[in-house]
Amino acid sequence: MNYDGYEKYDNQVAETYDIARKEEEHWKFENEYIKNRYKNFKTDRVLDLPVGTGRFLNYYVNVKEIFGCDISKDMLNKAKLAVTNSKENVFLSKEDAFNLSYADNYFDEIICFRLLHLIPPELRENLFKEFHRVLKGNLVLQVYLSRDYTLLEKVKNKIICFFNAMPNTKAWSHIKSYPLSLEELNRLINSVPMKVNKKNFLCQYTGADVYVFELSKD
Ligand SMILES: C[S@@+](CC[C@H](N)C(=O)[O-])C[C@H]1O[C@@H](n2cnc3c(N)ncnc32)[C@H](O)[C@@H]1O
Repeated sequence: MNYDGYEKYDNQVAETYDIARKEEEHWKFENEYIKNRYKNFKTDRVLDLPVGTGRFLNYYVNVKEIFGCDISKDMLNKAKLAVTNSKENVFLSKEDAFNLSYADNYFDEIICFRLLHLIPPELRENLFKEFHRVLKGNLVLQVYLSRDYTLLEKVKNKIICFFNAMPNTKAWSHIKSYPLSLEELNRLINSVPMKVNKKNFLCQYTGADVYVFELSKD
């Protein structure tokens, strides 16, 4: 694959990943989102992809089998250390989101946070197709949606960026990301096809709106 996010999550990024992001407003909201979703929700098989450093792994308390997959072995090494609950039902492995080794309709849920912005637009439809193939139930998808901000929003974002993100962005600012509009997201959703069951706005983050979409097969 030919994009930055595919190969640049090396040991140096993995080592600083959590610490560089944990003060972000949306990092906290995303953690809360997954924690609350799985607090009382029983399901059999969840795929967290990309699992990254495994920040959600301990939140899947009522899930029978938890699969955490990522293309980066360094991120997976961190994820291994993140599991503090019973490890017997957590399966971590290196997988490419575009070519998963799992059977059709294998997962009850897929959790996909902070991946889509790393994927060049021309490759995104293939990613959706692969998720659709292995999915039985819901895709819980975090996205950064670009839109034109008002002047007030721009000023607010600059201030938040200055106090929160700026000192820490060095660790990942060299990893290229691509904007995503709501129109483009809707096109991707319709292309597989899937339907939108819920759309949750979390907050704004440096030039984008952070949303979690809950999608399911049409
Ligand atoms: C910004 S991190 C997000 C990690 C985690 N979901 C989170 O929210 O903290 C992006 C992750 O995507 C992984 N990644 C990028 N392309 C991938 C692919 N094709 N298949 C699997 N993982 C991929 C990277 O290795 C990295 O760990």
